[in-house]
Amino acid sequence: MKLKEAQKKAKLELSHIETAAKECLWLYAKHSGKSKVALIADDEIEIDGAVVEDFLAKRKQNMPFEYIVNEAGFYGYDFFVDARCLIPRPETELLVDRALEIAKELNATSLLDICTGSGAIACTLKKELPDLSVTASDISEDALSVARINAEKLNIDINFLLSDLFVNIKDDSFDILTANPPYIQNSYKLDTNVLYEPHNALFGGENGAEIVEAAINGFFERGFKAFVCEVGFDQRERVLARLEKLKNIRYGFYKDYAEFDRGFWIIKEY
Ligand SMILES: C[S@@+](CC[C@H](N)C(=O)[O-])C[C@H]1O[C@@H](n2cnc3c(N)ncnc32)[C@H](O)[C@@H]1O
Repeated sequence: MKLKEAQKKAKLELSHIETAAKECLWLYAKHSGKSKVALIADDEIEIDGAVVEDFLAKRKQNMPFEYIVNEAGFYGYDFFVDARCLIPRPETELLVDRALEIAKELNATSLLDICTGSGAIACTLKKELPDLSVTASDISEDALSVARINAEKLNIDINFLLSDLFVNIKDDSFDILTANPPYIQNSYKLDTNVLYEPHNALFGGENGAEIVEAAINGFFERGFKAFVCEVGFDQRERVLARLEKLKNIRYGFYKDYAEFDRGFWIIKEY
């Protein structure tokens, strides 16, 4: 089927998806091995009609596009993704920005990324700071399998560990801790497209902040110098209440693109 034809079909059959034509272009780029720019100039290109039909059927069921093409862009890098891991989100790039600033400020040499999922945070930080020694952990062996694929794809060396938060983390000498933990309330009703993602990557407990709070506790109980963590848009007050009482730390919150407080950082000054 020609790209032009597929785009017309997608616009018609996926009228509820604004990006349908653009997704077709990505699908063709993926299957033809040509760049998107090359395809814009050549919309006569053909791919197997069955691939297009499969894409249309899955998108009608609200399967995320990234799972169909097994790819998600993050911080300028292409990550492999499938239903074993969360699809990395653009706002998590802001966590990476903050972690990079702090790593440089502290001359950090080592970092632990818990709840690593696809490895988006850990792999990106290793790419940006090649001298940093990076360990990445997750409670899910499935997620770690995806993260390992990404480390190999990006040609980087990361130490992977299966661990429920800090349970299997025996090394206490990491400079920096990063985390994008699950932080949605268990009772929250999510859109169908999000429900394709692993349950344990999304839901963070009865109030949603249980894993965030356990990660903060782990940070203070161990030798880390700094922590950067993503949270839900309504979790600032809960985190603030925990940090306000503490002495000898510097901390702050950072906003996402919609101006919600979506993450915090802590630096120990002791
Ligand atoms: C929101 S996803 C984040 C994935 C990735 N870091 C990102 O930013 O795209 C949360 C991840 O935490 C993992 N997770 C959930 N509970 C955990 C726990 N108790 N200990 C370690 N990892 C956990 C899930 O398996 C999932 O991969």
